[in-house]
Amino acid sequence: MIKPATTRLHLNENTAGCSPAVFDTLRALGRGDAGFYPNYDAAREAAAGCFGVSADHVLLTNGLDEGILAAAAAAFRDRTGPIPETVGVAPAFDMYEVCTTALGGRMVTVPLDGSYDLDTAAVAAAVTSATRIVFLANPHNPSGRPLPLDALRDLARRIAPVVLFVDEAYADFSGETLIAPEVFTALPNLLIGRTFSKAYGLAGLRIGAVVGGPAQLQPLRHVVPPYSLNAWAAAALPAAIDDRGYRDWYLEQAAASRALLAHAFDTLGLPTWPSAANFVLVHVGERAPAIVAALGARGVLVRDRSKEVGCEGCIRVTAGIVEDTRRAIAAIEEVLCAVR
Ligand SMILES: Cc1ncc(COP(=O)(O)O)c(C=O)c1O
Repeated sequence: MIKPATTRLHLNENTAGCSPAVFDTLRALGRGDAGFYPNYDAAREAAAGCFGVSADHVLLTNGLDEGILAAAAAAFRDRTGPIPETVGVAPAFDMYEVCTTALGGRMVTVPLDGSYDLDTAAVAAAVTSATRIVFLANPHNPSGRPLPLDALRDLARRIAPVVLFVDEAYADFSGETLIAPEVFTALPNLLIGRTFSKAYGLAGLRIGAVVGGPAQLQPLRHVVPPYSLNAWAAAALPAAIDDRGYRDWYLEQAAASRALLAHAFDTLGLPTWPSAANFVLVHVGERAPAIVAALGARGVLVRDRSKEVGCEGCIRVTAGIVEDTRRAIAAIEEVLCAVR
């Protein structure tokens, strides 16, 4: 694999790329695959098997970004009543608000405290008759904090029939998921978002999924275009899911990197939050933009979150393969001495 000149630790990608088996599969595709509309049967079955549900519980999307957009569009379809609202926490992944406003809605956010613990009572209290959907990520982005599954199930019950969309983009790393057929039967207002961009290293191919009860997914199926994934993505997915060994290797690398980052920041006297995801949020104070720029100049990209409400003074660093992490830590140590 050709290594990029930069160490990309700003978008929580798989810093090793996809499984070699995926690349072999893509190489074997031919002119017909480019010329014909894709068939999703194998990809949908593979995703369903990966999530432990039947295929009618899975809607494949062009990245989870499209799944978020589709969930909001489906929830906003009824245009009667007040301006439709979504509810979430702040700070959070920005696409919940981007999709809400793009569709003419308004997002209401509940501020998280400095520990980034979820206050489900406060989220439930923010739900009004205008609320169509509540967006929460588990683990939370940007802190990496895991949310208790019981609290999420309880929240879904309390806000029904408003949709609870739990974004499990980083669930491969935490090992915890709400996905189970019986959960969707008990909680028909629950939708789960998943992505193959992170643990599976397929961000460039754009493959996500919304998982939920078949009836609950139906309105989203009317929103997502029939050929939302291209043929290369559809062919890559079964190969990626089959290569369990590669995914497990990457999860180990990410966990080791997370521990290395937490230890390095602790040694440097910089506060972090216990993360269950493939990234670590660290408080560096007012120097955040200067540190991010100085690291960028050394070829290490990290994410400046310091301007966001609830994230002041923080940067987020992806925990990728250990080799990249060691290089990043060396650069961070150097930069911290230089940027006072
Ligand atoms: C919490 C969260 N949800 C969704 C996504 C989008 O994933 P995808 O690449 O599948 O669109 C990201 C990407 O960074 C994310 O952090």
